[in-house]
Amino acid sequence: MLVDSHCHIDFPELADQLDSVFDLMRKNQVERALCVSVTLEDFPRVRKLAETYPNIYASVGVHPDHEDVAVVTARELVALSDHPKIVAIGETGLDYYRLKGDLSWQHERFRTHIRAARECGKPLIIHTREAAEDTLRIMREESASAAGGVMHCFTESWETAEAAMALGFYISFSGIVTFKNAKALKEVARRVPLEKMLIETDSPYLAPVPYRGKTNQPGFVKHVAEEIARIKDTTLEQIAEATTYNFNLLFM
Ligand code: NI
Repeated sequence: MLVDSHCHIDFPELADQLDSVFDLMRKNQVERALCVSVTLEDFPRVRKLAETYPNIYASVGVHPDHEDVAVVTARELVALSDHPKIVAIGETGLDYYRLKGDLSWQHERFRTHIRAARECGKPLIIHTREAAEDTLRIMREESASAAGGVMHCFTESWETAEAAMALGFYISFSGIVTFKNAKALKEVARRVPLEKMLIETDSPYLAPVPYRGKTNQPGFVKHVAEEIARIKDTTLEQIAEATTYNFNLLFM
């Protein structure tokens, strides 16, 4: 059994074809998926999916790439997280790749999410892109280790992975690890111990090989698991077992 620890099946690319999405999940033995919130405007439809389907869980948070949305407070996040199927806070974090200039609002939003996670006792889903140093600094300053969580769609260095693991965070690999040119990331995946690893699709984006460029979906997490099994010279079953166990430990 596999779990997709991060997807966006509420996005229009997938929302209209949920029957086929669930069919492929069954076929590939992907028994559960965590549908991750990116804005509070879209959160109700994410929560609705989790309420409708027993095997779908959800998070609440505002993605660092969304600049022109209302300021979110820790109180709001804590209130919205008070639901049996809302299992995490995020996605949150820092992104210096997509956005430039004065990003102090992004830092503040990240701190707000960490405070909310600590208050409600639910783990964080952290997105970091070209901002590893500040991400780790803010995690330390806000005691993110008290909440724990996952560095999602990880594409950073081994040193960053090591620092995040030292703070009690899991490292989650997406379809990017299957890309031929992702040599450095494959090496990070080889070194991250199984007991600290999660897998995800981040669908509808970043479809793994052999579906690269197509619309991604949770069923494709099997291809991420297969590639990690190859990299670590082990079996798909072992990767499935370890990452499902970790998912349950962190989110359930
Ligand atoms: Ni995402």
